[in-house]
Amino acid sequence: MSSNIIIPIEVVYHRITKSSQFTSNFLIPERLGPSDHRSGSTTYISQPITKENFAMNGVGHPDVQHPTTRLVRGTQVTDQREHTRRDSFESYVHLRRSVRFFKSDAVPRPLLQMSLQLAQRAPSNSNIQPWRVRIASSNARDRIVGSLHAEALKYGPSIPPLPKHFHRFRSELGSFLYGKDGYNIAREDKTSLEQARMRNYEFFGAPVCAVVSIDETLAPVDVMTVGMFLQTFILALAEKGLGTCLLVSVTGYSHVLKREFGIDENQHLLCGIAIGWPMEDHKVNNLRTPRESLDQQVTFIEE
Ligand SMILES: Cc1cc2nc3c(=O)[nH]c(=O)nc-3n(C[C@H](O)[C@H](O)[C@H](O)COP(=O)(O)O)c2cc1C
Repeated sequence: MSSNIIIPIEVVYHRITKSSQFTSNFLIPERLGPSDHRSGSTTYISQPITKENFAMNGVGHPDVQHPTTRLVRGTQVTDQREHTRRDSFESYVHLRRSVRFFKSDAVPRPLLQMSLQLAQRAPSNSNIQPWRVRIASSNARDRIVGSLHAEALKYGPSIPPLPKHFHRFRSELGSFLYGKDGYNIAREDKTSLEQARMRNYEFFGAPVCAVVSIDETLAPVDVMTVGMFLQTFILALAEKGLGTCLLVSVTGYSHVLKREFGIDENQHLLCGIAIGWPMEDHKVNNLRTPRESLDQQVTFIEE
């Protein structure tokens, strides 16, 4: 291979602390061009981000993990990313948690696109890549959240009920989320509980709202694949310092979301995703939900 052929674009993230200055040049990779509104299975509904307004949104912002891009020529990679334990795959799995309080700061589209590019690597049955994602920000986000919230104020969501034998998990989560380490709302304070619940229909105030759907004629195994795509997507976002919360609640008003996001009738809406910069100090964002022990869910059989 010729040494002057430009091959992969390697992205290195610099965590900028509040006291440090951002000095590197930012280069938007050409393959993530700002005019790319509809790329494959992802549709963006917002203003395009140009190099100039990305610079305004990203560079100099003290809370953003700033990506810099360097081109790696030929096979000579001189500056490999340092894989410390802090930066490991394992650390991002542990770092990710559902975020329910966001800053209003915009999320530069290239960060979403880079994470989506990674998620696109998810495996799928016959490589059908069945995930469909619509992503709204800016005015589109405000319009969609306005319509959704208004509808949710009128009547309750229509969501398939949770089977009885799973109720225990939901009540445990409820106590945890609304208890003293979370929202800290007393059980009898129905008004505050209702206000907290209604935040679902504002995508928890996130500046970016996405919905994920699949062709309704596909099978459960294909829904599983969308989950694989999503896990990679939200971990990639976590690596960039972005928070997410998946939302089944919003699918309780799927006709509103289908209308507002312009989703085809033959698509089945699976969930929403709130995306944005977490309010890092908020108690609710720092809850560590428990998990069952492995032997409750996994069985090794040798005989
Ligand atoms: C498919 C899916 C749908 C979810 N829907 C909601 C939702 O509607 N509202 C909400 O507050 N959290 C929702 N969550 C977040 C879960 O409550 C959360 O993932 C779970 O409690 C584990 O906590 P963790 O994500 O912080 O590890 C959803 C998560 C998933 C994966």
